[in-house]
Amino acid sequence: MTGPAEEPMKIIIDTDPGQDDAVALLLALASDRLDILGITAVAGNVPLPLTQKNVRIVCELAQKPGVKVFAGSRAPMNKPLITAEYLHGKSGLDGPVLPDPQMPLQPQHGVDFIVDTILREPPGDVTLCTLGPLTNIGLALQQAPQLSERIKQIVMMGGGLFEGGNVTPAAEFNIYVDPQAAQAVFASGIPIVMMPLDVTHKVLTTRQRVADIAQLGTPVARAVVEMLEFFERYDEEKYGTDGGPLHDPTVIAWLLKPDLFSGRYCNVEIETVSPLTEGMTVIDWWQVTDRPHNALVIGDVDADGFFKLLADHLARL
Ligand code: RIB
Ligand code: CA
Repeated sequence: MTGPAEEPMKIIIDTDPGQDDAVALLLALASDRLDILGITAVAGNVPLPLTQKNVRIVCELAQKPGVKVFAGSRAPMNKPLITAEYLHGKSGLDGPVLPDPQMPLQPQHGVDFIVDTILREPPGDVTLCTLGPLTNIGLALQQAPQLSERIKQIVMMGGGLFEGGNVTPAAEFNIYVDPQAAQAVFASGIPIVMMPLDVTHKVLTTRQRVADIAQLGTPVARAVVEMLEFFERYDEEKYGTDGGPLHDPTVIAWLLKPDLFSGRYCNVEIETVSPLTEGMTVIDWWQVTDRPHNALVIGDVDADGFFKLLADHLARL
């Protein structure tokens, strides 16, 4: 006798595809345990016109053209946009050749969609999954501060602890692109689950793991393999590893199977002033201050279990 089926978790995904974002979106789209209320694109890896297009390309790859996709902010809250074509390619989704999207982009601004949805849904019902710079969330909180009492949690990829930074020696890309937005999110009081580089660098797209995905033999699997083979080359060269870190799917995987991960509640502050360390996440892992714990910082993962979860879900598309 099984218990009552759990209600699907209501989520909004905010993203800047990006091949790793794309894999995270496919993982979410394959799950029947997630009710994706909408996907909001943000400028990050590539400019907004491309990220909003890439979200729709991925939804159609997953054969889910009914998902509501919105374009959010074109630029960070208080600094010029920096992008990462060196890693993701000019399109942001280099690797596979995929058709331009036919599904519509919603007319509403992504930030307004986030605000309206959180105000409409019962308090504590909706999880925000953020895979890119936190600009849309920062702007939503600025527009409607009461959101901080209503959002269930934010599960986010960003920051670094002992791993340091990947775009400067001190800062990880998602935080560095928009430190003010990140500061607003970490000061909001909303429960946060944080996937820093320390955990994402433990889920490397090794040859064997990519081969395991390839043997699924589906069009989705082929596209994912082509994305990963393009995306991983830069980090393999940089870190001298077999495979590159598959950052963003850790956010969705935590929602689906949290016991794959471990971490601890810490205080996290964001450096927004120093030119040397702008965008650094200052994480009090060893609890040496009495600053309030504002995030569950994830430090470890069962990497094989993560890739099995991913392959099992990709096989459903
Ligand atoms: O630093 C890694 C993060 O930056 C990932 O979200 C990747 O997609 C890029 O947005
Ligand atoms: Ca991303």
